[in-house]
Order: sequence, then structure tokens, then C-alpha cells
Amino acid sequence: MSTAEWELEALLEYLKYSRGCDLTGYKRSSLVRRFRVRMGELKIDSYEDYLHYLQSHSQEYIHLLNTVLINLTSFFRDRDSWEYLANELIPKIIASKQPDEPIRVWSAACASGQEVYSLIILFAEALGIESCLQRLKFFATDWDKDALSQARNATYQPRDVSAIPADLLEKYFEQTEQGDYIFHRQLRRTILFAYHNLAQHAPMSKIDLLVCRHALMYFKWDIQITILIRFHYGLKNNGFLFLGKSEMVMTPRPIFTLINIKHRVYQKGLKLDVEEQLQLSSRSRPKPAINSLATDSRIWQTAFETSPAAQLAVDSNRCLIMANAKANTLFGLTLNDLGSSLESLPLGQLPGLCQSLEKVKRDRYPVRLENVAWKMANDTTYFDISITPVSNTDTQLICFTEVSPPPHKGRFLRWGFR
Ligand SMILES: C[S@@+](CC[C@H](N)C(=O)[O-])C[C@H]1O[C@@H](n2cnc3c(N)ncnc32)[C@H](O)[C@@H]1O
Repeated sequence: MSTAEWELEALLEYLKYSRGCDLTGYKRSSLVRRFRVRMGELKIDSYEDYLHYLQSHSQEYIHLLNTVLINLTSFFRDRDSWEYLANELIPKIIASKQPDEPIRVWSAACASGQEVYSLIILFAEALGIESCLQRLKFFATDWDKDALSQARNATYQPRDVSAIPADLLEKYFEQTEQGDYIFHRQLRRTILFAYHNLAQHAPMSKIDLLVCRHALMYFKWDIQITILIRFHYGLKNNGFLFLGKSEMVMTPRPIFTLINIKHRVYQKGLKLDVEEQLQLSSRSRPKPAINSLATDSRIWQTAFETSPAAQLAVDSNRCLIMANAKANTLFGLTLNDLGSSLESLPLGQLPGLCQSLEKVKRDRYPVRLENVAWKMANDTTYFDISITPVSNTDTQLICFTEVSPPPHKGRFLRWGFR
């Protein structure tokens, strides 16, 4: 570790033990950026100097926390995912219930409330306001007290509500004399707001739909696992989890089942085993036993991410579920391509690829293609491609190794079976 990295760790330990402000679970890359912002405001250059400042200014950690906790949010953020929620998921949840049965929804890391009010609007549209008042219970939690009090106020400026369709705005908001919009008074009673730290506190319970978007991504891998285990515990059997577009469930065991990759919707999967249950206690953050599992997964994930060979994973419908950095660069993939079928991507035009995936799916046996040409604007690259079924799943891993051009370009496409 560099001196600066040591100093940052010392600072985090100080905040944890002297101020009760535990930021040790967050990814260092985002912490460094946020600390730099706050230190810049104070014209402080080094973590060591900032530690002295924190020691002599007892309230400084609150300003720091406000800088670290990014409250960026909006109504119906990532609109297509909310349309999926409205058209597919919420009707499914309602259909799984008796007509009067309660439904419990948790907006975890709700920031200033736009997320929970978006959820209420969708449920009220699906059930009607009266039924929503009787059956729905919403939990809206965050670690940021200022954001929570804004959420409780339910008052938004015209620019905040611009994403809400006019008819819904009129139905669910009242305009004040100052021109602000206040969310529906009666429906607000269905919400319980609470101060809650995802990395430390016990989860809400018996939840049918848990929405935690754009928060998990700030945490380190092992803390993400701890939080996901808590979410699993908080969900009812068959309950759903809705994450942000750049977040994924990466637990060592499939305790969540993927329902829709594009919209990051999961359903409660395998039961927790003993080691996972041990992690539920708020004070017992990563135990060595689970840590070894988490470490294994992390090693595999790092190997996948940093491999010099381009690698992809597809599901049984040949939809892209993962791509490493090299594959993204080589094939021009972005996050938006996750969930798309390979056929719809330029990559799907590689000769023999889709047919081979079908073969591997059928035979559950690896296949290798040699000297496959990938034609770009001014250049052609040749690959050996191996397709391997991932055991006990419907997933297939595709690995591209760049090779020199064959003597007779393009005519040497061969099937190889191991
Ligand atoms: C970028 S906002 C996302 C808001 C909303 N979920 C959305 O997707 O629009 C991230 C939120 O996570 C909250 N947060 C960060 N760390 C947290 C923690 N340890 N426990 C609970 N909330 C946390 C922040 O306070 C902030 O309100």
C-alpha cells in the first residue's frame, strides 16, 4: 500500500471508532473521490492533515458524510425499468395475493423519497387508491438523515417532477401557492420512514418487493454480499429484489434467481445456509467462513474481469449476462447490451457462433471454433473461440483468443470437440 492509502485507512479507522461513522465497507475508489471533494473545499491536501482537522472539528464528520452519501435520485429513474415494473412485476405480485392480502414494499436507500413515491404511484395505478391505502405498507429507509427528512416532507420543485406524466402529477400531487408539488396526503400514510444503515442494521421483514437502487454499487464486494444476505432474509419466499442498472447479485451461492437481467430484477432463491445466517447478526460483519467463499468468488470475478482474453457469458436464450473489460472494448459492448440476445448484436454475426451455442446447450459439452474472422472497419481480427457450459446452470462461457491470420483467410473454420 502507498503512504496515501495507509493514511486513508487510518482516517477510516478513526471515523469508525472515534465518531461511530463506519465508512470502511465502501469501495475505496469512490471514497477517494468523495474525500478529495471535501478536502478540496477545505483546501487540505493530505489525508494526514485532514485527520488532524477531523480531530479538532467535532462536527466535520457530518459534512464529510454528506459528501460521501450521494443523494442523486429522480422519479421513475431509468424509465424503461419502471415500465417493466408497472407492466410485469407489480401485476405478478398482485396476482400472487388474495384480494385483501397486505403487500409490503421496501425502498432501501430511498434518498429524498422520489423512489418510494414512484412505487406508490405504480401500486395505486394498479390497485386503485382505496385498495392501496388498505393493503400497502411501504418502508423507506436511508442512512442520510437530511435526505430522509426531505423524503418525509414530500415536497418537490417543478423541475423535480418533470419526469412524471401530467395525468399522474395531477392525480397524486397537490400544488402549493409557491408552485411546489406535495405528494398525496393520504397515500403518504402508507409509508414508514426510518433511519437505516444497509451495512449495519437488520433488514425490514416480510417484504414482497425490495427496491435498492444505486446504493449497493458503492460498497465493497464482501459488504455487498452481507447486504444481499440481509435482503434475502427480509424478503418473503418468492419476494422480488429490484437493483440499479449497474448493479448485480454476485453472491457465492444462488440465493437469488435472476428474473430479468436488463432491469436487474431478482427473486428470492436458495435458502440461506448456516454460514450465511451467521452474517445476519448486525455485529457479526464478515465471518472468516463466509469470507473464504466470498474470497473465492472474488478471485474468480477478478480473473474474469482482468483476463487478457475477451470473455462473455450468455444464458439459455443466448442473452448476454456478463462481459469482461476486454470483450467490452473489442466488441463495443456497453451496459445497455446486457440482456440483449447475441443475434441482435454485431458480435452475433460471427460465423458459426450462434449455431455452436445451440450445440453446447444441447450436448452440454464444450466446443471450439478456430480462426473465426471478426471484420471491423479497416481490419480483420481472427479468434479461436471456446464455448463452455457452466456446470449446474444454463449459462455458457465464451472465450475469444486472438490468433494470427490463417494462411487462407476465412476458409479454415473448423469445429473441434474436446
Ligand atoms: C445515489 S442515491 C440512490 C437513491 C435511489 N435509490 C435511486 O436509485 O434513485 C444513494 C443513496 O444511498 C444512501 N446510502 C449510502 N450508504 C448507505 C448506507 N450504508 N445505508 C443506507 N443508505 C445508504 C445515500 O444516503 C443515498 O441516499
